[in-house]
Amino acid sequence: MNTVDIITKKRNGDMLSREELEYLVMGFTKGEIPDYQMSAFLMAVYFRGMTREETVDLTQIMKESGDTVDLSDIRGIKVDKHSTGGVGDKTTLIAGPIAAACGVPVAKMSGRGLGFTGGTVDKLESIPGFRTSLSEQDFINQVNDKGIAVIGQTGQIAPADKKVYALRDVTATVENLSLITSSIMSKKLAAGSDAILLDVKCGSGAFMKTREDAEKLASLMVEIGNAAGRKTMALITDMSQPLGMAVGNSLEVEEAIEVLKNRGADDITELSVNLAGFMIYLGGKASDSQEGIKMARGALEDGSALKKFREFIAGQGGNPAVIEDTSVLPHGSCRMDLTAWQDGYIVQIDAMKIGLASQHTGAGRETKEDMADLSAGIRLQHKVGDQVATGDIICTIYGNDPDKVQKALEEAIKAVKIETVRPHIPALIKSEVYSDEKNCCTVHRVDNNTESDCLQQ
Ligand code: URA
Repeated sequence: MNTVDIITKKRNGDMLSREELEYLVMGFTKGEIPDYQMSAFLMAVYFRGMTREETVDLTQIMKESGDTVDLSDIRGIKVDKHSTGGVGDKTTLIAGPIAAACGVPVAKMSGRGLGFTGGTVDKLESIPGFRTSLSEQDFINQVNDKGIAVIGQTGQIAPADKKVYALRDVTATVENLSLITSSIMSKKLAAGSDAILLDVKCGSGAFMKTREDAEKLASLMVEIGNAAGRKTMALITDMSQPLGMAVGNSLEVEEAIEVLKNRGADDITELSVNLAGFMIYLGGKASDSQEGIKMARGALEDGSALKKFREFIAGQGGNPAVIEDTSVLPHGSCRMDLTAWQDGYIVQIDAMKIGLASQHTGAGRETKEDMADLSAGIRLQHKVGDQVATGDIICTIYGNDPDKVQKALEEAIKAVKIETVRPHIPALIKSEVYSDEKNCCTVHRVDNNTESDCLQQ
């Protein structure tokens, strides 16, 4: 086999065999195929695409390139929830304890924030004492004893994806359906859960800018998850504005606690309850997602989800006093307000720009090696559709370096638009994607109650 022949085949739009993909991907992972040839291949895929069969093969090759996690010592059906990434997305901190309170074991490996998106591990580490690095046995014990554990990634999960993703990031080849699908699903399949719930984001703060593209991505991932024997479903959810009111690590923990006390903002509460409901269904504790959602709402209202959160924090060494007294969390020493410059309605709070502004405060990382400031970030006072008067605070920027906070403020101004006409508010949960016994995918559009078989590429 020859690397140039494989690149040429893909450049000409021909289909590659599993052997050819394996030769290329594993050769690159081992350092035998150079970056410039892999870059040419990725660009050919970007323009020519891949068939479903090629995508399945690529996913399996990347999954098998490293360790697979064995969760069989954990009792019950383990459900993983994965978000394709967003701004202000703290749903794992809320949906995880809700699902666990309803009897679903939650054994989750999460990532750190990078670029304008946040990561659950950073958020949890803002709680004094919280340990995101547990031995495999402690991880399993915590799930069996407390019902929930969240840790950073251990071992070598899908190292081929790690190397390919780093190259995609700097060669403008991230935004391709097959490459995103194989990247995410190789890691999810290696992580060992029995079922997978995907939260596929759509809007300015997401990879997929349109609903149609998000539905195509979700359908392909759902199909591949089910084909691999893991019950997989997806929700398509809005990421045109930040989720909830807080962006930044300790600020998001504070907000998650408010939601668990059942006094959070509507959007983050609604999405967390829905995600938890689907997890409860996938975990076999409800007969359908609607019953799961009802149970999830019940766990929020009766305080059992908050109790579970306390057990979870304490079990991983965190200070549970945070639940009554959020002053134990780190807080930025410097703050600036962005105020409304005219009367009107907020018609836009661009998720990506707010994510970038939060990154400027120090809350995010530009490279994996950067340290995140766990106390920095942005707290919104308003959402799209709210009416404001000149001088009203739209958001407050927190940090420890006045220059960084000033830079963040300048970015945040670009994110917000105020106009005199009340805007249309995009639906938070747009579609549900699931497949039947024959693994035929259906997209149910929740906001207009229509159903369609999703066309794949
Ligand atoms: N997240 C991933 O892990 N991979 C992608 O390709 C895109 C988002």
